[in-house]
Amino acid sequence: MENKATFIIFCTLLLSCFITQTTAKKQIEALSHIYKEKLKNNIGIDRSHLNASHHFHGVKVHPQEGLKESDRIVRLPGQPEVKFKQYGGYVTVNHTSGKAFYYYFVEAQKSEKTLPLLLWLNGGPGCSSLAYGAMQELGPFRVHSDGKTLYKNKFTWNHAANVLFLESPAGVGFSYSNTTDDFRNGGDRKTARDNYAFLLNWLERFPEYKNRDFYISGESYAGHYVPQLAHTILYHNLKANKTIINLKGIIIGNAVIDDESDVKGMYEYFGSHALVSDETTEQIMKYCDFSPNATKQSEKCNEAAEAVGRNINHLDIYNIYAPLCSNSSLTDKPKKTLDMNDDPCSDFYVYAYLNRPEVQKALHANVTKIPYAWQPCSEVIRNWEDSPATIIPLLKEFMANGIRVWIFSGDIDGRIPVTSTKNSIKKMKLPIKISWHPWYLGGEVGGYTQVYEGNLTFATVRGAGHQVPSYQPARALSLIMHFLGGTELPNSSRSQ
Ligand SMILES: *[C@@H]1O[C@H](CO)[C@@H](O)[C@H](O)[C@H]1NC(C)=O
Ligand SMILES: *[C@@H]1O[C@H](CO)[C@@H](O)[C@H](O)[C@H]1NC(C)=O
Ligand SMILES: *[C@@H]1O[C@H](CO)[C@@H](O)[C@H](O)[C@H]1NC(C)=O
Ligand SMILES: *[C@@H]1O[C@H](CO)[C@@H](O)[C@H](O)[C@H]1NC(C)=O
Ligand SMILES: *[C@@H]1O[C@H](CO)[C@@H](O)[C@H](O)[C@H]1NC(C)=O
Ligand SMILES: *[C@@H]1O[C@H](CO)[C@@H](O)[C@H](O)[C@H]1NC(C)=O
Ligand SMILES: *[C@@H]1O[C@H](CO)[C@@H](O)[C@H](O)[C@H]1NC(C)=O
Ligand SMILES: *[C@@H]1O[C@H](CO)[C@@H](O)[C@H](O)[C@H]1NC(C)=O
Ligand SMILES: *[C@@H]1O[C@H](CO)[C@@H](O)[C@H](O)[C@H]1NC(C)=O
Repeated sequence: MENKATFIIFCTLLLSCFITQTTAKKQIEALSHIYKEKLKNNIGIDRSHLNASHHFHGVKVHPQEGLKESDRIVRLPGQPEVKFKQYGGYVTVNHTSGKAFYYYFVEAQKSEKTLPLLLWLNGGPGCSSLAYGAMQELGPFRVHSDGKTLYKNKFTWNHAANVLFLESPAGVGFSYSNTTDDFRNGGDRKTARDNYAFLLNWLERFPEYKNRDFYISGESYAGHYVPQLAHTILYHNLKANKTIINLKGIIIGNAVIDDESDVKGMYEYFGSHALVSDETTEQIMKYCDFSPNATKQSEKCNEAAEAVGRNINHLDIYNIYAPLCSNSSLTDKPKKTLDMNDDPCSDFYVYAYLNRPEVQKALHANVTKIPYAWQPCSEVIRNWEDSPATIIPLLKEFMANGIRVWIFSGDIDGRIPVTSTKNSIKKMKLPIKISWHPWYLGGEVGGYTQVYEGNLTFATVRGAGHQVPSYQPARALSLIMHFLGGTELPNSSRSQ
């Protein structure tokens, strides 16, 4: 899983220095890779605005009878007893090319017939929602350090919703295509179209969810996927003049929203969190061009970016205070789970678990004998074709159409830090409806929140890194409950 050396050679470019060689986290690598590609600007990534009215025709719904039953997961290897139902399997998103997406679905612990349907997407591009979302963040189980048994996550989001995890696009995790070109070349547009095709067909397979309130959530590069899928749904609903998918809201965390705001905010965060000297930060702010159109950085900018790299190279910038994984071996006996929330080696446990043939069999995954191993972040997607410089117009579109928009931020993430998200929101120039105040859970400050006119809620999660539900599971569950319930975060320690 250590495959970082190839990225380091681009160290003179802004941002590309930040692939830490010491951490096993793969999401960081994937994200740095796309930024690097964007900044290189010479491989022709299309950064124009994604608009479904120009590209999104021909998605088909196919019969799904009987498939739900055969997707039922009786029990996962090493799994503790649970009451809710689980499903896993493939949905074909393109019959012509033989492209199929893998999903894992957990019904709610209680009231599954009335609670909403929540889709979770991880970012990358190329990272798996099974690897992170389901197995390390908000899913019902986490993997023990033995790589073969599971334990319960007390704060699983299926207390609040029926939760659907999707591995997307093709080439991620168990999702594949029989046409190699399909997964070698990814892109935002293809991902949005295929995610939409997945959803239509999945709802055909699980028709009881067709009219259910539907929400989309995600983190990191899913700051693109979530709004782009929501936009596609909205477009088709408006075009058909009926509710094809009952989309009610979206929520994104530590999300890639606006390249200029994100990159600038990252340097602001390093400077303000005593990771980098004031002099270096000033040099960055003065000499680096954060505009998405910048094709070349000045010598002074590159010099300062290298200094930043030297300062942060041995940190996990996903969580600037986290320990690093110093021994990635599995253990014979599971480690105590008390401190597992921030076990920095959990990627390795999940890798071992999901590559076990008996686990794949129980999940109904890898039925076509995919010729490469399951990876938390794809190693087969080679090229990314399009990635708009900003998704702000989509957020505005949702607000204009009465779709709830929440943006959250774990405040100790250095990758897409709270400063980046604040910059992006500032760029939207929204009037404030409820001004900045702490929100509470269990008598403690869970974070801070500010609500804007047009129903956009911004909330920080105190003490959480990039993967908010991993680092602050209780606060993350409280956040999602308030989001789904359409209620404000509690503004006093007594009102929770
Ligand atoms: C997409 O394009 C259509 C037609 O050009 C336009 O009316 C619409 O406003 C665009 N949507 C967004 C979100 O830009
Ligand atoms: C399906 O895949 C084929 C071949 O790659 C492509 O030409 C076509 O546009 C795709 N159709 C849809 C609806 O995605
Ligand atoms: C991909 O090819 C395999 C082997 O021919 C086949 O079993 C499978 O159904 C194909 N997948 C799709 C989505 O068509
Ligand atoms: C859309 O549907 C509503 C009723 O559901 C109808 O009143 C309206 O005329 C329709 N609009 C168009 C443009 O067909
Ligand atoms: C970037 O270039 C595009 C197209 O050339 C232009 O519309 C846009 O205003 C430019 N953005 C900035 C921040 O300069
Ligand atoms: C790493 O952990 C394994 C399993 O607990 C142990 O056998 C091994 O000695 C450890 N290696 C080091 C270098 O500490
Ligand atoms: C799929 O299964 C084959 C063995 O049948 C294995 O070699 C491969 O690593 C697996 N791939 C994935 C993505 O799980
Ligand atoms: C904002 O939310 C409130 C309460 O849910 C609702 O009444 C109002 O119509 C919404 N406003 C907009 C602009 O969507
Ligand atoms: C706190 O929130 C409640 C319910 O949302 C609201 O009625 C109250 O005015 C708020 N109090 C303050 C001090 O903002």
